[in-house]
Amino acid sequence: MKNVILGVAASALLFVGSAAQANQELATKNACMSCHQLAVKVVGPAYKDVANKYKGDPEAAAKLAEKVKAGGSGVWGPIPMPPNANVSDEDVKALVDWILSLAD
Ligand code: HEC
Repeated sequence: MKNVILGVAASALLFVGSAAQANQELATKNACMSCHQLAVKVVGPAYKDVANKYKGDPEAAAKLAEKVKAGGSGVWGPIPMPPNANVSDEDVKALVDWILSLAD
């Protein structure tokens, strides 16, 4: 019985792990990671900082999806994010949901 529970817990962890991995791959594929990292600011803000900033904001996912598509500046500093118009809406949504899930 104990083994069954452990097995279920382990596969749940594996599942969460691989979903996060897939999203990071999506971010890498779409060149997001050339300006962003998970926990440190590079050219753009750390994704963890983005998640913490918008924690509890029900509009955040929609606002950020639009910002990723159109680009823009002024929230984190003067450096602009260029538009990412070539990234599909579906991918943008998956990326933003993943970023917002990184809050502490
Ligand atoms: C050329 C560098 C660059 C690339 C490539 C880039 N970003 Fe950004 N990103 C930035 C900068 C700079 C900012 C800060 C903009 C600001 O201060 O308003 C930013 C901000 C953000 C924010 C926070 C926006 C806000 O208003 O708080 C999110 C979310 C984000 N980027 C996601 C992405 C995703 C997803 C991708 C890939 C599709 C991506 N970025 C690609 C530079 C980049």
